[in-house]
Amino acid sequence: MNINEKQKIKRSLNFYLENGLNEVIMSSKKTLKNKKNNISQEISIKTNFEQKKITKIFDENKVDLSKSANIKTISSSSDAIGILAKKNLEDSDIKKFIPISKIIEDAKNSAKKCNNIFELKKAVENFDGCNLKKIATNTVFCDGNPDSKIMVIGEAPGNHEDLQGIPFCGESGKLLDAMFQAIDLDRSKIYITNVIFWRPPGNRKPTEEELSVCKPFVEKHIELINPKLIILVGSTAMSAILGISDPVTGIRGKIIKYRMSNIDKEVDSFVIFHPSYLMRQSSKKRIAWRDMLEIEKIIKQ
Ligand code: URA
Repeated sequence: MNINEKQKIKRSLNFYLENGLNEVIMSSKKTLKNKKNNISQEISIKTNFEQKKITKIFDENKVDLSKSANIKTISSSSDAIGILAKKNLEDSDIKKFIPISKIIEDAKNSAKKCNNIFELKKAVENFDGCNLKKIATNTVFCDGNPDSKIMVIGEAPGNHEDLQGIPFCGESGKLLDAMFQAIDLDRSKIYITNVIFWRPPGNRKPTEEELSVCKPFVEKHIELINPKLIILVGSTAMSAILGISDPVTGIRGKIIKYRMSNIDKEVDSFVIFHPSYLMRQSSKKRIAWRDMLEIEKIIKQ
């Protein structure tokens, strides 16, 4: 082995060490005799070359030629990147790939077992099937009065909600509170939740997949609260619950029957503009005001 080859091995070992790639350090080929068929077979062997041994080699500042004879050397940057990419892939969630149908099934089974809001909250907090949970600070489950017959359902937590674990506690929440105050309702008289329990990064819209995995919990949530009126705040909540994808403008202002998924029961629902939308489109506040008066009428009936 010449100096160049020795250096290559040292460099490779260094790279393996720095990147925690002990398991791919050595690879060798061995010929095995398959006794049954009497055929020789070449198989690839990957040896777990312990960190201790490598460190020793470096400490002694010499490369043990007998041990390093079949160390897999790296001859280029792209070679190194390839090895790293493979390692990352092996470590990543792709290895643990679970189909979305299975995740939804798990969510359904978990939600089904819940007999009260407390159990449902625990089940949602323990559920790992929604990717948003990995980067969220808190699970945002509910606020307000669980005995209320008015259930308000929004889209997803934003930054403030994520930090405090309370739905609608940021700027849009202040406007929502003001809208309900106008008809003499506050959080002691209504119950508030969202169709998504974790903050989507950058407050982006939740994906169909995220909505689908949360849906079994949302449906169970409605079943357990058993409201007389569901107020759907904005288009995402509307389409997630009612399956309607038209603009809110055409759907708001009237009662739409919502059929509960697990029990044979219909509930009145009413779609309103999302307060974030009203903050951007203040010309729509007049219609929103009329909608709140309509809600007041429905409640008093
Ligand atoms: N927007 C929502 O739809 N829900 C929240 O909880 C906060 C902002």
